[in-house]
Amino acid sequence: MTLEVSSQPIATRDIQIEPFTPLHLEGAVHLSQQVSWPHRFEDWALTLSVSKGVVALCDGVIVGTALCTIFGPVASLNMIIVDAQMRGQGLGRKLMDRIIALTGDPELRLVATTDGIPLYEKLGFVAAGQIVQHQGIARKVAPIQPVEKVTAENLPRLAALDADASGMERLALLQAIAALPDGQSEIFVTDAGFAMKRQFGRGTVIGPVVADTDTAARSLIAAIANQVQGQFLRIDLPVQRGLGEFVETLGLANAGGGTAMVMRAAQHPETHMKTYALISQALG
Ligand SMILES: CC(C)(COP(=O)(O)OP(=O)(O)OC[C@H]1O[C@@H](n2cnc3c(N)ncnc32)[C@H](O)[C@@H]1OP(=O)(O)O)[C@@H](O)C(=O)NCCC(=O)NCCS
Repeated sequence: MTLEVSSQPIATRDIQIEPFTPLHLEGAVHLSQQVSWPHRFEDWALTLSVSKGVVALCDGVIVGTALCTIFGPVASLNMIIVDAQMRGQGLGRKLMDRIIALTGDPELRLVATTDGIPLYEKLGFVAAGQIVQHQGIARKVAPIQPVEKVTAENLPRLAALDADASGMERLALLQAIAALPDGQSEIFVTDAGFAMKRQFGRGTVIGPVVADTDTAARSLIAAIANQVQGQFLRIDLPVQRGLGEFVETLGLANAGGGTAMVMRAAQHPETHMKTYALISQALG
């Protein structure tokens, strides 16, 4: 009789992969802090509220996370983390396989860190652009075009603009952001676009910014920067929209970024609306 010996390293033998539930949020925050991501409990909870995913547990401790968020024809894969001590042993790939299996067959998108790129390339993702994170203490700037604050009743119309720009159906997410308690989020419009701001991580984040002209996008961003001047502000910009220099004038320095990647890319109809800032690197 041959004795079967697992070829797996000891560290991954006793790992269980389970569905991600709200009970896992505390441990997930701990894991994301380990990789210096700024997500608070509330930020994880918001993402989980529109997502499904898995956790990897070792002796009851969360050592891996991965979520997928289905926005109609596109799914965004996010919060993919493996504990530093468990890396390089196939756990990241297992978590990815599990969340990809949860998505069905939509286009898959993610924003990759340098750590993640080799794994995603092996799975078949290809680079589709760069995202740059800008952050800092917001400075006062001259208003550009008039910007008005609106209520959540406008979201179905605004989510349609967002879908035109991104190909993603994100009304439920925009509504969840608008429903954050204690005025933690706001919605702004111009005649050619809209933006949202919310509490996130170390302060406030602007996103999404969806507009059909650069001027409209700048007007929305400037209005929000003015509103929170003197406070920590972050924005995640697709490089091809060219607003990096502009947000630096608002006090928001380049803080690195990631590579937008896609798999099973689908055709999206060309429209005049464009995404000038992401909701987050996790949610596109
Ligand atoms: C990205 C991350 C999740 C990968 O997890 P992991 O458990 O180390 O990944 P795996 O061991 O499953 O590696 C997956 C594949 O990528 C390859 N790979 C991993 N790192 C690599 C590297 N630096 N260079 C080349 N290949 C690499 C592995 O060889 C493996 O290929 P294989 O399945 O053909 O053997 C992990 O590094 C991590 O948590 N990093 C910090 C957080 C982060 O940046 N997450 C990504 C967010 S988008």
